[in-house]
Parts: sequence; C-alpha cells; structure tokens
Amino acid sequence: CEKDLESAERTFIAIKPDGVQRKLIGEIVARFEKKGLKLVGCKLIQPSRKLAEKHYAEHKGKPFYEGLLDFITSGPVFAMVWEGKEVVSTARSLIGLTDPKKSPMNTIRGDFGIDVGRNIIHGSDSVESAQREIGLWFSKNELTRSSVTIEKWIY
Ligand code: TYD
Ligand code: MG
Repeated sequence: CEKDLESAERTFIAIKPDGVQRKLIGEIVARFEKKGLKLVGCKLIQPSRKLAEKHYAEHKGKPFYEGLLDFITSGPVFAMVWEGKEVVSTARSLIGLTDPKKSPMNTIRGDFGIDVGRNIIHGSDSVESAQREIGLWFSKNELTRSSVTIEKWIY
C-alpha cells in the first residue's frame, strides 16, 4: 500500500573488486531483480582508503582489517542501493554467510566464492547500518524516487 511505499526500507549492496573482475555484476543484479527488489541507485567506483576505513570502521583493529581495506580499495566496486520490504534481511539471505565455504548453495557467496577474504559482495547488516552506509557511498541526488510501482504484484 502507499504508506508502505513511502517508508520503504533500503539497503546498501556492493559487489567487491573480485566480483567485478569476475564479471558477476549481471548475475548478481539479476538475482536481486528476480527476487522482486527495486534498484534505486548504482555506480562503479574505486573507493578511497578513507571511504573504505569509514565503511569498515566496526572492524578496526581486527586481524583481517588492513587486508580487507587493501582488497576493497584494489579495484572498482559496483555500489548499489536496493529498496523493498524487509530488504536488509532479504538481501542478506540472497548473499549468504560471511564465509563462502559455509554459505549454502543457491546463495551468492555459496555459489561463487571459496575464500572469506574474497566473498564477492557486501550487504548492510541492519537498517541502521544501511542508512549509514548509503550516506557514505551516495549523495541524495544519485538515488531515484521511482514512479514505477510494481509492488502490488509482489507483496
Ligand atoms: P563481516 O562484517 O563480519 O561480514 P559480512 O560481510 O558478512 O557482514 O566482515 C566484513 C568482511 O571482512 C567480510 O565480508 C570479509 C572480511 N572478513 C575476513 O576477511 N575475515 C574474517 O575472519 C571475517 C570475519 C571477515
Ligand atoms: Mg558486515
């Protein structure tokens, strides 16, 4: 209904440099679209160290942190904002578990990944993280207010 649309949840999704280099953008976008989610913004961008540090601030000090920053800044990232009902958790379900080895088949990481340090895709872990990450990666005028509504055919 209209009210749901106005308060539609959004999430930040990024195809990491490994996913871009391996030509998985189309495959991944197709999975999100087919699920019934709506793309409201996207761009190919190689993040600065500063942006990467802000994005992964929660992991500062962990053993994998520096390597993670090196990796995420090593090439273009396909950054996206998706919208839909409970999109944060829906997207995390499509993505799978952090470690591709433990991630079930039919999830993006389960199907395409082997190594936790090369797990292809990022997805916000909560509505609050999503708002923070969208603000870091996108300016408001880069996100559409789409007039096409097909939601009544999905939920
Ligand atoms: P995290 O936020 O725990 O996982 P997720 O991406 O599923 O939200 O960690 C952020 C990224 O850090 C993760 O996608 C891959 C990397 N990472 C490692 O390289 N080694 C690790 O042991 C962990 C936990 C994460
Ligand atoms: Mg995380």
